[in-house]
Amino acid sequence: MSDRRDFMGMALGAFAGLGALGALYAAKRTWDPLPSVKAGGFTTIDLSGAKENELNTEVWRGKPIFVMKVGKNNPAYNDKRLIKVGNDRFFIAIGLCTHLGCIPTYFPEKNKFICPCHGGQFDAAGKVLKAPPPKPLTIPPFKLEGTKMVLGEEGKEYKEMKAQKLV
Ligand code: FES
Repeated sequence: MSDRRDFMGMALGAFAGLGALGALYAAKRTWDPLPSVKAGGFTTIDLSGAKENELNTEVWRGKPIFVMKVGKNNPAYNDKRLIKVGNDRFFIAIGLCTHLGCIPTYFPEKNKFICPCHGGQFDAAGKVLKAPPPKPLTIPPFKLEGTKMVLGEEGKEYKEMKAQKLV
């Protein structure tokens, strides 16, 4: 009897271990950062290696920053909140839900973020698809330098978005 229990315990442990590995792998995929340099409150991210519809998470001034190259097949592709870099379009936002500050998870197969706390949803341009978040994900101040993005500085593109009340 005790052998059987040991076996069941080991089998369950192995199963739980595999589940945890799967979750870690999923989290890693979501949290893979792009090459970046941090200095004096600025974070410079190299966007050239970004893959379509794959979320990258950076850290800027202690906050998670979502960065994603949005593919043409994504329903948010034509949204004005996306930033044009060469021939590509990028979504960038502070990765904190505008309801109560939880970190939303991106589901690439659904092209949307879902907040684990109260079920709020955002599209791949950060716009609210489902309440309770009261407003879109916040776009941080940024400046473009070729295929590099400097977080913490208001560049021409950011100022234009500000004038259009997109940020
Ligand atoms: S904190 Fe995201 S829905 Fe409440």
